[in-house]
Amino acid sequence: MSDIQWDKIGFDAYRTDVVLMARWKDGQWSEIVEDDTFAFTLDPFTCVFHYAVSCFEGLKAFSQKDGKVILFRPEENAHRMQRTARYLGLPEPSDEMFIEMCERCVRANREFLPPYGHDASLYVRPLLMGAQPKMQLTPPNEVIFAVMCAPAGSYYGAFLKSFAAAIPQNYDRAAPKGSGSYKVGANYASTFRPYQIAHNQGYQELLYLNSKTHEFIDEFGSSNFFGIKDNKYVTPLSDSVLPSITNKSLQELAADLGLVVEKRAIPLEELSEFDEVGACGTAVVITPISHIDVKEVLEDNAVTKQFRYMPDGEVGPVCTRLYKALTSIQKGESEDIHGWCHEVKM
Ligand code: PLP
Ligand code: COI
Repeated sequence: MSDIQWDKIGFDAYRTDVVLMARWKDGQWSEIVEDDTFAFTLDPFTCVFHYAVSCFEGLKAFSQKDGKVILFRPEENAHRMQRTARYLGLPEPSDEMFIEMCERCVRANREFLPPYGHDASLYVRPLLMGAQPKMQLTPPNEVIFAVMCAPAGSYYGAFLKSFAAAIPQNYDRAAPKGSGSYKVGANYASTFRPYQIAHNQGYQELLYLNSKTHEFIDEFGSSNFFGIKDNKYVTPLSDSVLPSITNKSLQELAADLGLVVEKRAIPLEELSEFDEVGACGTAVVITPISHIDVKEVLEDNAVTKQFRYMPDGEVGPVCTRLYKALTSIQKGESEDIHGWCHEVKM
C-alpha cells in the first residue's frame, strides 16, 4: 500500500506506475500500450518541440462513499479534445478510445487513487501531440496520444479558501479568433511569465480581459470566471474562453439551487456589483476570489482599481454551497441526478 499523505499532496507532476500510450501513423492508431518507463524518445526535429502542436485534457477520478470509483464526465473531455484536435489538424481519439485509456490509466495506477474521505482525487491528464520530425507547417503524420495521471490535492494549497487575483492589462491570453477556446498547450506557455510576476506580488490568479477591446471579462489563466449577485450566477459568454466542464456543471447546480443563470458578456466595471466571485475548473474546483486588482502594467506596483469581495482566505455562502453541491456528487455523497459519474470497474 502506498504511504502517500493524501491531505498534504498539492497539484504537481507525480510519478505513478504507468502511462497509457497509442501512436498514430499513416491514418492508423497502434495498439494501446502500458508504459512504465515514463520516457518519450523523440527526434529533436519532432514538430511538438518547435511548433507546439499539442493539446491536453484534465479530468478527475474519485473514490466514492460506497466504494465505487468514478471519472467525472469523461465523455465531455473526449468531445473537447476532439474539437481541439480538429483545430490543430491532429487525429481525434474516439470517445471509446479516450474513455478506455482514461479507465485503464486509473486501474493501472490504483495505488495513487486517494481513498474516500479525503479532498484529494486522481487527476487524469490525456495528451495529444505531433510526433513527426518535420519542418513544414502542415499537420504531422505521426502523433502520440498518452494518458497519465497524478494524485491531486488543492491547486492553490488549500480547498475552500479565497485567493487574490490581478487583471494584467498589458497581457492578453488569446487573440480574437485565436486559440482561446481550445485546450492547446501554447495557451498556457504564454501565461508562465505573467504568473511568475503575479505570484511574486502575492496574487494566485490572473484574470484576462477579452483581447480585442479589453472591455469584458474572459477567464482566469487556469479556469473560468463566475460572479454571484442578486441570486444570479453570471459567467462570460465569449468565444475566446475554454468551455469549462466544471462551469457547465455549476450552471446546472446553480439552477438546482434556485439561482438564475446568466451567460453573457460581463463588462469590467460590473466586477464592482458582484457579492462573490470565483474561479472554476477541474484543477481549481471552485476557488473563491478575495479581491481583484486591475493593473495597467503587471510589473509595476501601481493598482488602478481594486474590487473586494471577501477578506483574504474567507469564503462566501454561495461559493460554499456550490462547492459542496459539486464535490458531494463527485464523492458519491449525494445523488448523481444529472448522470455525471462514469463508473470505472476496478
Ligand atoms: N479555463 C482554462 C484556461 C483551463 O485551463 C481550464 C481547465 O481545464 C478551465 C477553464 C476549466 O475547464 P474544466 O472545468 O473543463 O476543467
Ligand atoms: C485543469 O483544470 O484540468 C487544467 O488543465 C488547468 C491547469 C492550469 C492545471
